[in-house]
Amino acid sequence: MLGLSKLICTTVLLTCTAFVYSVELNIDDKDSICAAAKIVSDGMWNYYEGFKPGGTVGMFASPNYWWNAGEAFGGFVDYFTYCDSDNKTLEKWIYDGMYHQAGENYNYIPSNQSLTEGNDDQGVWGMAIMEAVERNFTDPQSHSWLEMAQAIFNTMNARWDTAHCGGGLRWQIFTWNSGYNYKNAISNGCLFHMAARLARYTGNESAYVPTAERVWDWMESINFLTEETNGNLRIYDGAEVEENCTSVTDLRWSYTYGVFMSGCAYLYNVTGDETWKTRSYEVVEAAINYFFENKIMLEKTCQPSGNCNNDQRSFRCLFSRCLGLTMKLIPEFENEIRPSLEASAKGAAQSCSGGSDGVTCGEDWSANGWDNKYGLGEQMSALEVMLALIVEEPLSVKTGGTNRSNFAAGTDTEDTENKNKLKIQGKDRAGAGVLTAIVLLILLGGGIWMIF
Ligand SMILES: *[C@@H]1O[C@H](CO)[C@@H](O)[C@H](O)[C@H]1NC(C)=O
Ligand SMILES: *[C@@H]1O[C@H](CO)[C@@H](O)[C@H](O)[C@H]1NC(C)=O
Ligand SMILES: *[C@@H]1O[C@H](CO)[C@@H](O)[C@H](O)[C@H]1NC(C)=O
Ligand SMILES: *[C@@H]1O[C@H](CO)[C@@H](O)[C@H](O)[C@H]1NC(C)=O
Ligand SMILES: *[C@@H]1O[C@H](CO)[C@@H](O)[C@H](O)[C@H]1NC(C)=O
Ligand SMILES: *[C@@H]1O[C@H](CO)[C@@H](O)[C@H](O)[C@H]1NC(C)=O
Ligand SMILES: *[C@@H]1O[C@H](CO)[C@@H](O)[C@H](O)[C@H]1NC(C)=O
Repeated sequence: MLGLSKLICTTVLLTCTAFVYSVELNIDDKDSICAAAKIVSDGMWNYYEGFKPGGTVGMFASPNYWWNAGEAFGGFVDYFTYCDSDNKTLEKWIYDGMYHQAGENYNYIPSNQSLTEGNDDQGVWGMAIMEAVERNFTDPQSHSWLEMAQAIFNTMNARWDTAHCGGGLRWQIFTWNSGYNYKNAISNGCLFHMAARLARYTGNESAYVPTAERVWDWMESINFLTEETNGNLRIYDGAEVEENCTSVTDLRWSYTYGVFMSGCAYLYNVTGDETWKTRSYEVVEAAINYFFENKIMLEKTCQPSGNCNNDQRSFRCLFSRCLGLTMKLIPEFENEIRPSLEASAKGAAQSCSGGSDGVTCGEDWSANGWDNKYGLGEQMSALEVMLALIVEEPLSVKTGGTNRSNFAAGTDTEDTENKNKLKIQGKDRAGAGVLTAIVLLILLGGGIWMIF
Protein backbone atom coordinates (compact mmCIF):
# COMPACT_ATOMS: atom_id res chain seq x y z
CA MET A 1 0.00 0.00 0.00
CA LEU A 2 1.49 3.30 -1.00
CA GLY A 3 1.39 6.39 1.12
CA LEU A 4 -1.28 9.04 0.93
CA SER A 5 1.11 11.30 -0.91
CA LYS A 6 1.19 8.85 -3.81
CA LEU A 7 -2.57 8.78 -3.90
CA ILE A 8 -2.82 12.54 -4.00
CA CYS A 9 -0.03 12.62 -6.50
CA THR A 10 -1.62 10.18 -8.90
CA THR A 11 -5.05 11.73 -8.63
CA VAL A 12 -4.06 15.33 -8.92
CA LEU A 13 -1.14 14.68 -11.29
CA LEU A 14 0.59 17.85 -10.22
CA THR A 15 4.19 18.42 -9.13
CA CYS A 16 4.44 14.72 -8.51
CA THR A 17 8.21 14.72 -8.09
CA ALA A 18 7.91 17.14 -5.21
CA PHE A 19 6.02 14.54 -3.21
CA VAL A 20 7.86 11.91 -1.26
CA TYR A 21 6.35 8.48 -1.71
CA SER A 22 7.14 5.73 0.71
CA VAL A 23 6.14 2.26 1.70
CA GLU A 24 3.58 2.51 4.46
CA LEU A 25 4.24 0.32 7.47
CA ASN A 26 2.34 -0.24 10.68
CA ILE A 27 4.61 -2.47 12.74
CA ASP A 28 1.73 -3.67 14.91
CA ASP A 29 -0.32 -5.02 12.04
CA LYS A 30 0.65 -8.15 10.16
CA ASP A 31 -1.37 -7.21 7.07
CA SER A 32 0.44 -3.91 6.87
CA ILE A 33 3.82 -5.62 7.25
CA CYS A 34 2.91 -8.08 4.49
CA ALA A 35 1.67 -5.31 2.20
CA ALA A 36 4.94 -3.45 2.68
CA ALA A 37 6.93 -6.66 2.23
CA LYS A 38 5.13 -7.34 -1.04
CA ILE A 39 6.15 -3.98 -2.49
CA VAL A 40 9.74 -4.49 -1.38
CA SER A 41 10.00 -8.09 -2.59
CA ASP A 42 8.41 -7.19 -5.93
CA GLY A 43 11.29 -4.72 -6.17
CA MET A 44 13.68 -7.65 -5.76
CA TRP A 45 12.06 -9.54 -8.65
CA ASN A 46 12.85 -6.52 -10.86
CA TYR A 47 16.50 -7.61 -10.67
CA TYR A 48 15.71 -11.26 -11.50
CA GLU A 49 17.34 -12.70 -14.59
CA GLY A 50 15.18 -15.81 -14.71
CA PHE A 51 12.31 -14.07 -16.53
CA LYS A 52 14.50 -12.51 -19.21
CA PRO A 53 15.22 -14.13 -22.57
CA GLY A 54 18.56 -15.90 -22.22
CA GLY A 55 18.66 -15.18 -18.48
CA THR A 56 19.56 -17.91 -16.01
CA VAL A 57 16.86 -19.16 -13.67
CA GLY A 58 17.81 -18.49 -10.05
CA MET A 59 20.21 -15.62 -10.83
CA PHE A 60 19.99 -11.85 -10.43
CA ALA A 61 21.40 -9.06 -12.58
CA SER A 62 25.07 -8.14 -12.29
CA PRO A 63 26.80 -6.94 -10.09
CA ASN A 64 24.95 -9.47 -7.98
CA TYR A 65 26.73 -12.78 -7.64
CA TRP A 66 25.44 -16.29 -7.17
CA TRP A 67 25.58 -15.97 -3.41
CA ASN A 68 23.30 -12.91 -3.46
CA ALA A 69 20.68 -15.13 -5.06
CA GLY A 70 21.06 -17.43 -2.06
CA GLU A 71 20.29 -14.50 0.22
CA ALA A 72 17.29 -13.52 -1.90
CA PHE A 73 15.65 -16.93 -2.01
CA GLY A 74 15.83 -17.33 1.78
CA GLY A 75 13.87 -14.08 2.09
CA PHE A 76 11.41 -15.11 -0.62
CA VAL A 77 10.65 -18.38 1.18
CA ASP A 78 9.85 -16.45 4.35
CA TYR A 79 7.75 -13.88 2.50
CA PHE A 80 5.81 -16.65 0.78
CA THR A 81 5.30 -18.53 4.04
CA TYR A 82 4.25 -15.62 6.23
CA CYS A 83 2.36 -13.50 3.71
CA ASP A 84 1.32 -15.14 0.44
CA SER A 85 1.32 -18.91 0.82
CA ASP A 86 -1.62 -19.48 -1.55
CA ASN A 87 0.18 -17.76 -4.42
CA LYS A 88 1.06 -20.65 -6.76
CA THR A 89 2.87 -18.38 -9.21
CA LEU A 90 5.18 -17.09 -6.52
CA GLU A 91 5.71 -20.61 -5.21
CA LYS A 92 6.79 -21.75 -8.66
CA TRP A 93 9.19 -18.85 -9.15
CA ILE A 94 10.88 -19.62 -5.83
CA TYR A 95 10.90 -23.36 -6.37
CA ASP A 96 12.33 -23.11 -9.89
CA GLY A 97 15.04 -20.66 -8.86
CA MET A 98 16.23 -22.64 -5.86
CA TYR A 99 16.08 -26.00 -7.55
CA HIS A 100 17.82 -24.87 -10.74
CA GLN A 101 20.85 -23.77 -8.72
CA ALA A 102 21.20 -27.02 -6.75
CA GLY A 103 24.07 -28.16 -8.95
CA GLU A 104 24.77 -31.47 -10.62
CA ASN A 105 25.14 -33.24 -7.27
CA TYR A 106 22.33 -31.48 -5.41
CA ASN A 107 24.79 -29.95 -2.98
CA TYR A 108 24.80 -26.33 -4.20
CA ILE A 109 28.14 -26.56 -5.94
CA PRO A 110 26.94 -25.88 -9.52
CA SER A 111 29.84 -26.14 -11.95
CA ASN A 112 28.87 -22.77 -13.50
CA GLN A 113 29.94 -21.08 -10.27
CA SER A 114 33.38 -22.62 -9.80
CA LEU A 115 35.01 -19.24 -10.40
CA THR A 116 32.99 -17.50 -7.71
CA GLU A 117 31.79 -19.96 -5.11
CA GLY A 118 33.38 -19.97 -1.66
CA ASN A 119 32.39 -21.82 1.49
CA ASP A 120 30.41 -18.81 2.66
CA ASP A 121 28.50 -18.70 -0.65
CA GLN A 122 27.54 -22.34 -0.37
CA GLY A 123 26.66 -21.71 3.28
CA VAL A 124 24.34 -18.81 2.49
CA TRP A 125 22.52 -20.97 -0.05
CA GLY A 126 22.44 -23.55 2.75
CA MET A 127 20.62 -21.02 4.91
CA ALA A 128 18.03 -20.53 2.16
CA ILE A 129 17.55 -24.27 1.79
CA MET A 130 17.17 -24.64 5.58
CA GLU A 131 14.50 -21.95 5.39
CA ALA A 132 12.71 -24.12 2.82
CA VAL A 133 13.10 -27.15 5.10
CA GLU A 134 11.82 -25.40 8.21
CA ARG A 135 8.93 -23.73 6.34
CA ASN A 136 7.72 -26.97 4.75
CA PHE A 137 8.29 -25.50 1.29
CA THR A 138 7.23 -27.94 -1.45
CA ASP A 139 9.89 -30.63 -1.84
CA PRO A 140 11.26 -31.65 -5.23
CA GLN A 141 10.77 -35.29 -6.21
CA SER A 142 14.43 -36.08 -6.73
CA HIS A 143 15.81 -34.82 -3.42
CA SER A 144 14.11 -33.22 -0.45
CA TRP A 145 15.36 -29.80 0.62
CA LEU A 146 16.48 -31.54 3.80
CA GLU A 147 18.66 -33.99 1.88
CA MET A 148 20.18 -31.09 -0.04
CA ALA A 149 20.85 -29.17 3.18
CA GLN A 150 22.53 -32.28 4.56
CA ALA A 151 24.65 -32.51 1.40
CA ILE A 152 25.67 -28.87 1.83
CA PHE A 153 26.63 -29.54 5.42
CA ASN A 154 28.57 -32.72 4.60
CA THR A 155 30.52 -31.23 1.72
CA MET A 156 31.43 -28.19 3.80
CA ASN A 157 32.37 -30.24 6.81
CA ALA A 158 34.63 -32.46 4.68
CA ARG A 159 36.71 -29.38 3.83
CA TRP A 160 37.72 -28.87 7.46
CA ASP A 161 41.43 -28.30 7.14
CA THR A 162 43.79 -29.09 9.99
CA ALA A 163 46.94 -28.39 7.99
CA HIS A 164 46.95 -24.72 8.99
CA CYS A 165 45.69 -22.72 11.95
CA GLY A 166 44.78 -25.86 13.85
CA GLY A 167 41.58 -26.36 11.80
CA GLY A 168 38.84 -24.33 10.19
CA LEU A 169 37.42 -23.87 6.72
CA ARG A 170 39.20 -21.78 4.17
CA TRP A 171 37.25 -18.95 2.63
CA GLN A 172 37.35 -20.45 -0.86
CA ILE A 173 36.50 -23.95 -2.01
CA PHE A 174 38.60 -23.94 -5.17
CA THR A 175 42.38 -23.48 -5.19
CA TRP A 176 42.27 -21.16 -8.20
CA ASN A 177 40.12 -18.52 -6.54
CA SER A 178 41.77 -15.66 -4.69
CA GLY A 179 41.03 -15.96 -1.00
CA TYR A 180 41.90 -19.65 -0.98
CA ASN A 181 44.66 -18.89 1.52
CA TYR A 182 42.35 -17.06 3.88
CA LYS A 183 40.29 -18.58 6.67
CA ASN A 184 37.34 -16.48 7.70
CA ALA A 185 34.66 -16.23 10.33
CA ILE A 186 31.67 -16.19 7.98
CA SER A 187 32.58 -19.46 6.21
CA ASN A 188 33.06 -21.18 9.53
CA GLY A 189 30.00 -19.44 10.91
CA CYS A 190 27.91 -20.89 8.09
CA LEU A 191 29.12 -24.40 8.89
CA PHE A 192 28.32 -23.81 12.56
CA HIS A 193 24.89 -22.45 11.66
CA MET A 194 24.03 -25.37 9.35
CA ALA A 195 25.14 -27.87 12.00
CA ALA A 196 22.96 -26.19 14.61
CA ARG A 197 19.85 -26.03 12.43
CA LEU A 198 20.18 -29.60 11.19
CA ALA A 199 20.68 -30.80 14.76
CA ARG A 200 17.47 -29.16 15.86
CA TYR A 201 15.47 -30.04 12.76
CA THR A 202 16.39 -33.72 12.65
CA GLY A 203 16.78 -34.15 16.40
CA ASN A 204 19.91 -36.19 15.60
CA GLU A 205 22.30 -34.39 17.93
CA SER A 206 25.20 -36.79 17.51
CA ALA A 207 25.26 -36.17 13.77
CA TYR A 208 25.65 -32.39 14.05
CA VAL A 209 26.35 -30.98 17.51
CA PRO A 210 30.00 -32.14 17.62
CA THR A 211 30.73 -30.12 14.47
CA ALA A 212 29.11 -27.02 15.93
CA GLU A 213 31.20 -27.42 19.09
CA ARG A 214 34.34 -27.95 17.04
CA VAL A 215 33.75 -24.76 15.04
CA TRP A 216 33.01 -22.64 18.10
CA ASP A 217 36.04 -23.95 20.01
CA TRP A 218 38.28 -23.38 17.01
CA MET A 219 36.96 -19.84 16.53
CA GLU A 220 37.96 -19.12 20.13
CA SER A 221 41.29 -20.92 19.97
CA ILE A 222 42.39 -18.91 16.96
CA ASN A 223 41.10 -15.61 18.38
CA PHE A 224 38.52 -15.07 15.65
CA LEU A 225 36.06 -14.85 18.51
CA THR A 226 37.28 -13.12 21.64
CA GLU A 227 36.11 -11.40 24.75
CA GLU A 228 37.32 -7.82 24.91
CA THR A 229 38.50 -6.25 28.16
CA ASN A 230 35.09 -4.57 28.59
CA GLY A 231 33.50 -8.01 28.50
CA ASN A 232 32.04 -7.54 25.01
CA LEU A 233 32.34 -10.40 22.61
CA ARG A 234 33.96 -9.58 19.27
CA ILE A 235 34.01 -11.59 16.05
CA TYR A 236 36.82 -10.80 13.63
CA ASP A 237 36.87 -11.25 9.87
CA GLY A 238 39.61 -13.82 9.33
CA ALA A 239 43.34 -14.41 8.78
CA GLU A 240 45.87 -15.74 6.26
CA VAL A 241 46.96 -19.37 6.44
CA GLU A 242 50.54 -18.46 5.46
CA GLU A 243 50.82 -16.79 8.86
CA ASN A 244 49.02 -19.69 10.51
CA CYS A 245 46.15 -17.30 11.26
CA THR A 246 48.21 -15.32 13.78
CA SER A 247 47.43 -11.93 12.24
CA VAL A 248 43.68 -11.43 12.53
CA THR A 249 41.81 -8.90 10.38
CA ASP A 250 39.76 -6.67 12.65
CA LEU A 251 36.58 -6.05 10.67
CA ARG A 252 33.11 -6.81 11.98
CA TRP A 253 30.17 -7.75 9.74
CA SER A 254 26.57 -7.99 10.82
CA TYR A 255 25.78 -11.30 9.10
CA THR A 256 28.68 -13.02 10.88
CA TYR A 257 27.18 -12.05 14.22
CA GLY A 258 23.83 -13.19 12.87
CA VAL A 259 24.83 -16.72 11.92
CA PHE A 260 26.56 -17.28 15.25
CA MET A 261 23.84 -15.84 17.50
CA SER A 262 21.08 -17.83 15.81
CA GLY A 263 23.24 -20.96 15.58
CA CYS A 264 23.68 -20.78 19.35
CA ALA A 265 19.91 -20.32 19.74
CA TYR A 266 19.17 -23.45 17.69
CA LEU A 267 21.72 -25.39 19.73
CA TYR A 268 20.22 -24.20 22.98
CA ASN A 269 16.79 -25.22 21.78
CA VAL A 270 17.80 -28.76 20.83
CA THR A 271 20.28 -29.49 23.63
CA GLY A 272 18.82 -27.41 26.46
CA ASP A 273 22.43 -26.62 27.37
CA GLU A 274 22.59 -23.20 29.07
CA THR A 275 26.08 -22.60 27.67
CA TRP A 276 24.55 -22.02 24.24
CA LYS A 277 21.97 -19.66 25.62
CA THR A 278 24.69 -17.60 27.32
CA ARG A 279 26.76 -17.55 24.15
CA SER A 280 23.78 -16.54 22.06
CA TYR A 281 23.08 -13.68 24.44
CA GLU A 282 26.69 -12.50 24.31
CA VAL A 283 26.54 -12.30 20.52
CA VAL A 284 23.16 -10.57 20.62
CA GLU A 285 24.47 -7.96 23.06
CA ALA A 286 27.63 -7.33 21.06
CA ALA A 287 25.59 -7.05 17.86
CA ILE A 288 23.01 -4.69 19.33
CA ASN A 289 25.84 -2.50 20.65
CA TYR A 290 27.76 -2.31 17.40
CA PHE A 291 25.28 -2.60 14.53
CA PHE A 292 22.63 -0.15 15.72
CA GLU A 293 22.60 3.58 16.31
CA ASN A 294 19.48 4.98 17.99
CA LYS A 295 17.98 1.54 17.41
CA ILE A 296 18.47 1.83 13.63
CA MET A 297 20.45 -1.01 12.07
CA LEU A 298 23.51 -0.13 10.03
CA GLU A 299 26.49 -1.96 8.53
CA LYS A 300 28.78 -0.10 10.86
CA THR A 301 32.15 -1.09 9.40
CA CYS A 302 31.52 0.48 6.00
CA GLN A 303 28.21 2.37 5.88
CA PRO A 304 29.05 5.58 7.80
CA SER A 305 31.97 6.22 5.44
CA GLY A 306 29.85 5.36 2.40
CA ASN A 307 32.18 2.52 1.48
CA CYS A 308 29.98 -0.58 1.53
CA ASN A 309 30.42 -2.65 -1.62
CA ASN A 310 27.58 -4.51 -3.28
CA ASP A 311 28.03 -7.57 -1.05
CA GLN A 312 28.25 -5.58 2.15
CA ARG A 313 25.10 -3.64 1.31
CA SER A 314 23.20 -6.92 1.52
CA PHE A 315 24.54 -8.27 4.83
CA ARG A 316 21.70 -6.82 6.90
CA CYS A 317 19.21 -9.12 5.21
CA LEU A 318 20.81 -12.20 6.76
CA PHE A 319 21.47 -10.35 10.01
CA SER A 320 17.79 -9.41 10.29
CA ARG A 321 16.64 -12.94 9.50
CA CYS A 322 18.97 -14.31 12.18
CA LEU A 323 17.81 -11.78 14.78
CA GLY A 324 14.22 -12.83 14.12
CA LEU A 325 15.01 -16.53 14.41
CA THR A 326 16.98 -15.95 17.60
CA MET A 327 14.16 -14.17 19.39
CA LYS A 328 11.71 -16.79 18.19
CA LEU A 329 13.82 -19.64 19.55
CA ILE A 330 14.68 -17.88 22.81
CA PRO A 331 11.66 -15.70 23.62
CA GLU A 332 13.44 -14.22 26.64
CA PHE A 333 15.64 -12.27 24.20
CA GLU A 334 12.70 -10.65 22.48
CA ASN A 335 12.74 -7.59 24.77
CA GLU A 336 16.34 -7.01 23.78
CA ILE A 337 15.86 -7.53 20.04
CA ARG A 338 12.37 -6.49 18.95
CA PRO A 339 12.51 -2.74 19.71
CA SER A 340 15.60 -2.41 17.52
CA LEU A 341 13.99 -4.43 14.73
CA GLU A 342 10.85 -2.31 14.91
CA ALA A 343 12.67 0.99 14.73
CA SER A 344 14.81 -0.35 11.89
CA ALA A 345 11.83 -1.67 9.95
CA LYS A 346 10.15 1.74 10.20
CA GLY A 347 13.34 3.42 9.07
CA ALA A 348 13.68 0.97 6.20
CA ALA A 349 10.07 1.47 5.08
CA GLN A 350 10.39 5.23 4.91
CA SER A 351 13.67 4.83 3.03
CA CYS A 352 11.73 2.86 0.40
CA SER A 353 10.63 6.04 -1.32
CA GLY A 354 13.06 6.40 -4.18
CA GLY A 355 13.58 5.56 -7.82
CA SER A 356 11.16 5.97 -10.71
CA ASP A 357 8.64 3.68 -9.00
CA GLY A 358 8.73 5.79 -5.84
CA VAL A 359 9.19 2.70 -3.67
CA THR A 360 12.86 1.82 -4.22
CA CYS A 361 14.62 1.16 -0.91
CA GLY A 362 17.73 3.00 0.26
CA GLU A 363 20.73 2.08 2.36
CA ASP A 364 20.65 4.55 5.25
CA TRP A 365 17.53 3.88 7.29
CA SER A 366 18.17 6.82 9.59
CA ALA A 367 18.12 9.29 6.71
CA ASN A 368 14.91 11.19 6.12
CA GLY A 369 13.51 9.41 3.06
CA TRP A 370 15.56 7.85 0.28
CA ASP A 371 19.36 8.36 0.23
CA ASN A 372 19.77 7.73 -3.51
CA LYS A 373 21.28 4.28 -2.97
CA TYR A 374 19.58 1.30 -4.54
CA GLY A 375 20.13 -2.32 -5.43
CA LEU A 376 19.15 -5.89 -4.64
CA GLY A 377 20.99 -5.63 -1.30
CA GLU A 378 18.94 -2.62 -0.22
CA GLN A 379 15.69 -4.36 -1.20
CA MET A 380 16.60 -7.64 0.54
CA SER A 381 17.68 -5.92 3.74
CA ALA A 382 14.48 -3.89 3.92
CA LEU A 383 12.39 -6.98 3.20
CA GLU A 384 13.97 -9.10 5.89
CA VAL A 385 13.97 -6.50 8.64
CA MET A 386 10.20 -6.22 8.10
CA LEU A 387 9.66 -9.99 7.95
CA ALA A 388 11.65 -10.50 11.15
CA LEU A 389 8.79 -8.75 12.99
CA ILE A 390 6.42 -11.56 12.05
CA VAL A 391 8.90 -14.46 12.17
CA GLU A 392 7.25 -17.84 12.63
CA GLU A 393 8.56 -20.78 14.56
CA PRO A 394 10.78 -22.99 12.42
CA LEU A 395 9.45 -26.52 12.03
CA SER A 396 11.37 -29.62 13.04
CA VAL A 397 10.69 -33.30 12.42
CA LYS A 398 9.23 -33.41 15.92
CA THR A 399 6.69 -30.71 15.10
CA GLY A 400 5.59 -32.18 11.78
CA GLY A 401 8.35 -31.31 9.32
CA THR A 402 9.19 -33.90 6.69
CA ASN A 403 11.64 -36.63 7.62
CA ARG A 404 13.02 -37.39 4.15
CA SER A 405 16.62 -37.34 5.27
CA ASN A 406 19.96 -38.71 4.14
CA PHE A 407 22.65 -38.27 6.74
CA ALA A 408 25.28 -39.33 4.20
CA ALA A 409 24.12 -36.96 1.44
CA GLY A 410 27.07 -35.49 -0.42
CA THR A 411 29.52 -38.08 0.88
CA ASP A 412 28.44 -40.91 -1.43
CA THR A 413 29.89 -39.68 -4.68
CA GLU A 414 30.02 -42.92 -6.67
CA ASP A 415 26.92 -42.18 -8.72
CA THR A 416 27.70 -38.53 -9.25
CA GLU A 417 31.48 -38.49 -9.48
CA ASN A 418 31.62 -38.01 -13.23
CA LYS A 419 28.87 -35.47 -13.53
CA ASN A 420 30.86 -32.60 -12.12
CA LYS A 421 34.49 -32.75 -13.06
CA LEU A 422 35.26 -29.45 -11.36
CA LYS A 423 34.06 -30.56 -7.98
CA ILE A 424 37.09 -30.26 -5.75
CA GLN A 425 36.66 -30.69 -2.06
CA GLY A 426 38.23 -32.06 1.09
CA LYS A 427 39.68 -35.40 0.21
CA ASP A 428 39.93 -34.38 -3.45
CA ARG A 429 42.46 -31.67 -2.66
CA ALA A 430 45.19 -33.72 -4.35
CA GLY A 431 42.95 -33.72 -7.42
CA ALA A 432 42.88 -29.93 -7.34
CA GLY A 433 46.66 -29.92 -7.57
CA VAL A 434 46.53 -32.21 -10.58
CA LEU A 435 43.95 -29.98 -12.21
CA THR A 436 46.04 -26.88 -11.61
CA ALA A 437 48.99 -28.74 -13.11
CA ILE A 438 46.96 -29.64 -16.18
CA VAL A 439 45.84 -26.03 -16.61
CA LEU A 440 49.47 -24.91 -16.24
CA LEU A 441 50.61 -27.50 -18.78
CA ILE A 442 48.02 -26.33 -21.25
CA LEU A 443 49.11 -22.71 -20.73
CA LEU A 444 52.79 -23.65 -20.99
CA GLY A 445 52.05 -25.84 -23.98
CA GLY A 446 50.32 -22.88 -25.62
CA GLY A 447 53.31 -20.70 -24.83
CA ILE A 448 55.79 -23.19 -26.27
CA TRP A 449 53.65 -23.59 -29.36
CA MET A 450 53.76 -19.83 -29.83
CA ILE A 451 57.56 -19.78 -29.49
CA PHE A 452 57.90 -22.41 -32.18
C1 LIG B 1 1.89 -13.72 -6.63
O1 LIG B 1 3.05 -13.02 -6.21
C2 LIG B 1 3.67 -12.23 -7.20
C3 LIG B 1 4.93 -11.64 -6.58
O2 LIG B 1 4.61 -10.88 -5.46
C4 LIG B 1 2.72 -11.18 -7.71
O3 LIG B 1 3.33 -10.48 -8.78
C5 LIG B 1 1.44 -11.82 -8.20
O4 LIG B 1 0.52 -10.83 -8.53
C6 LIG B 1 0.86 -12.70 -7.12
N1 LIG B 1 -0.30 -13.41 -7.64
C7 LIG B 1 -1.46 -13.41 -7.01
C8 LIG B 1 -2.53 -14.21 -7.66
O5 LIG B 1 -1.63 -12.79 -5.99
C1 LIG C 1 24.92 -22.48 -16.42
O1 LIG C 1 25.18 -21.60 -17.51
C2 LIG C 1 24.39 -21.82 -18.67
C3 LIG C 1 24.87 -20.89 -19.74
O2 LIG C 1 24.85 -19.57 -19.28
C4 LIG C 1 22.91 -21.65 -18.34
O3 LIG C 1 22.13 -21.95 -19.46
C5 LIG C 1 22.54 -22.59 -17.20
O4 LIG C 1 21.21 -22.38 -16.85
C6 LIG C 1 23.45 -22.37 -16.02
N1 LIG C 1 23.12 -23.31 -14.98
C7 LIG C 1 22.98 -22.93 -13.74
C8 LIG C 1 22.69 -24.01 -12.76
O5 LIG C 1 23.10 -21.78 -13.40
C1 LIG D 1 49.48 -23.12 13.91
O1 LIG D 1 48.41 -22.82 14.79
C2 LIG D 1 47.87 -23.94 15.45
C3 LIG D 1 46.64 -23.49 16.21
O2 LIG D 1 46.89 -22.34 16.95
C4 LIG D 1 48.94 -24.57 16.32
O3 LIG D 1 48.40 -25.70 16.97
C5 LIG D 1 50.11 -24.95 15.46
O4 LIG D 1 51.16 -25.46 16.27
C6 LIG D 1 50.62 -23.78 14.68
N1 LIG D 1 51.63 -24.22 13.72
C7 LIG D 1 52.78 -23.61 13.57
C8 LIG D 1 53.69 -24.17 12.54
O5 LIG D 1 53.09 -22.62 14.22
C1 LIG E 1 21.97 -39.95 13.09
O1 LIG E 1 23.04 -39.63 12.23
C2 LIG E 1 23.93 -40.70 11.99
C3 LIG E 1 25.04 -40.15 11.12
O2 LIG E 1 25.78 -39.22 11.83
C4 LIG E 1 23.22 -41.83 11.32
O3 LIG E 1 24.10 -42.92 11.14
C5 LIG E 1 22.04 -42.27 12.18
O4 LIG E 1 21.28 -43.23 11.49
C6 LIG E 1 21.16 -41.08 12.49
N1 LIG E 1 20.13 -41.48 13.43
C7 LIG E 1 18.82 -41.38 13.16
C8 LIG E 1 17.91 -41.80 14.25
O5 LIG E 1 18.39 -40.95 12.11
C1 LIG F 1 12.64 -25.55 21.84
O1 LIG F 1 11.56 -25.16 21.00
C2 LIG F 1 10.35 -25.84 21.28
C3 LIG F 1 9.36 -25.41 20.27
O2 LIG F 1 9.85 -25.60 18.98
C4 LIG F 1 9.89 -25.49 22.67
O3 LIG F 1 8.71 -26.18 22.97
C5 LIG F 1 10.98 -25.90 23.65
O4 LIG F 1 10.62 -25.50 24.95
C6 LIG F 1 12.29 -25.24 23.29
N1 LIG F 1 13.34 -25.74 24.16
C7 LIG F 1 14.13 -24.95 24.85
C8 LIG F 1 15.19 -25.61 25.67
O5 LIG F 1 14.03 -23.75 24.82
C1 LIG G 1 12.91 -40.03 11.07
O1 LIG G 1 13.25 -41.17 10.30
C2 LIG G 1 14.26 -41.98 10.88
C3 LIG G 1 14.53 -43.13 9.95
O2 LIG G 1 14.74 -42.69 8.66
C4 LIG G 1 13.80 -42.50 12.23
O3 LIG G 1 14.85 -43.23 12.82
C5 LIG G 1 13.46 -41.34 13.12
O4 LIG G 1 12.92 -41.80 14.34
C6 LIG G 1 12.41 -40.45 12.45
N1 LIG G 1 12.21 -39.31 13.29
C7 LIG G 1 11.00 -38.97 13.72
C8 LIG G 1 10.95 -37.86 14.72
O5 LIG G 1 9.98 -39.49 13.33
C1 LIG H 1 3.71 -29.78 4.88
O1 LIG H 1 3.24 -29.77 3.55
C2 LIG H 1 2.53 -30.93 3.21
C3 LIG H 1 2.25 -30.88 1.72
O2 LIG H 1 1.74 -29.65 1.35
C4 LIG H 1 1.26 -31.00 4.05
O3 LIG H 1 0.53 -32.15 3.74
C5 LIG H 1 1.66 -31.01 5.52
O4 LIG H 1 0.51 -30.96 6.32
C6 LIG H 1 2.56 -29.84 5.86
N1 LIG H 1 3.07 -30.00 7.21
C7 LIG H 1 3.09 -29.02 8.11
C8 LIG H 1 3.62 -29.36 9.45
O5 LIG H 1 2.71 -27.90 7.86
